[in-house]
Amino acid sequence: MNAPRILSGIKPTGRPHLGNYFGMMQPAIAWQDRGQAFYFIADYHALTTVQDAAALRQHTRDAALDFLACGLDPSKAVLFRQSDVPEVTELAWLLTCLTPMPMLENCHAYKDHLARGKVPSHGLFAYPVLMAADILLYDSNVVPVGKDQKQHVEVTRDLAEKANRIFGPIFTVPQPSIVPEMATVIGLDGQKMSKSYGNTIGLFEEEKALKKKVMGIVTDSAPVEAPKNPEVSSIVALYRLVAGEADVGVMESEFRAGGVGYGEFKKRLFGAIWETFAPFRSTRAELAADPSTVEAVLADGAGRARAVADQTMARVRQAMGLR
Ligand code: ADP
Ligand code: TRP
Repeated sequence: MNAPRILSGIKPTGRPHLGNYFGMMQPAIAWQDRGQAFYFIADYHALTTVQDAAALRQHTRDAALDFLACGLDPSKAVLFRQSDVPEVTELAWLLTCLTPMPMLENCHAYKDHLARGKVPSHGLFAYPVLMAADILLYDSNVVPVGKDQKQHVEVTRDLAEKANRIFGPIFTVPQPSIVPEMATVIGLDGQKMSKSYGNTIGLFEEEKALKKKVMGIVTDSAPVEAPKNPEVSSIVALYRLVAGEADVGVMESEFRAGGVGYGEFKKRLFGAIWETFAPFRSTRAELAADPSTVEAVLADGAGRARAVADQTMARVRQAMGLR
């Protein structure tokens, strides 16, 4: 079998957090050694929330920097800006014509919006179709994402299968790839870590701000001497992501034994987070000092992405009776 094509995207809507890193960026970066990896900054998708041109441009550059700082290697993986290949919006339209409304009415981002009494834009409603276009345009086999994106990959599979039934085998049907232990990283309040819940720990926070956040993790009011259950603790759950096995074992047994307070555990967690991301912080600072490097990576990525996209679009237009 040929090396698989791997594809994922991240929306440039704000600073990346531990959920983004462990749920998507780290697994995606690990895949770059196992196939042809295509990763992009989803600036079209971000427009459903970021409606300020300067901010969107800045967030897009930042997201590319973040990915590179965390280990994305442009000699192995293609990194590009979604809007540098605008054909994706054409494919989104073609797929839209095959998409049953109820399929989108069932998607969680739209349902959450309605549940919170907000009026969703058509962009938010149709968001999963643009995501399907991203995935199908590049003939992707594997899509590394966090658990919350699984539904969107299922929509993509349904649309690809439907199109293939109607028009012949024009699309590769993708598989999601979700790392079970990282499926849902929890946030400061014990819910899923998410920008929308304001409970995130950023990868590139200032030391003081990071410490303050970690010390603010919500716990029960068990006194220092009381035994505590590590299995229900957000502190332990986060520590497992950033500490070695032996250190996690020590923390778990100290939880069970009692005699150590949550404050001490939080300090240890802070130290481990700070150290885990230290190398990324320094790489990021170096890259940020020379913006032309990131621009060159994105320009090269756009060319490589476009070469694949052009072939897919020629095939799809032909099969659907366009041109
Ligand atoms: P947010 O919920 O903060 O807006 P995004 O929707 O931009 O995050 O997610 C970008 C990527 O990071 C997606 O692949 C998503 O599945 C992953 N991700 C986000 N939050 C988490 C989390 N708490 N745990 C695991 N993966 C996550
Ligand atoms: N919807 C994804 C998110 O919110 C981002 C994204 C857009 C994406 N297109 C994609 C992820 C294609 C994987 C594949 O995080």
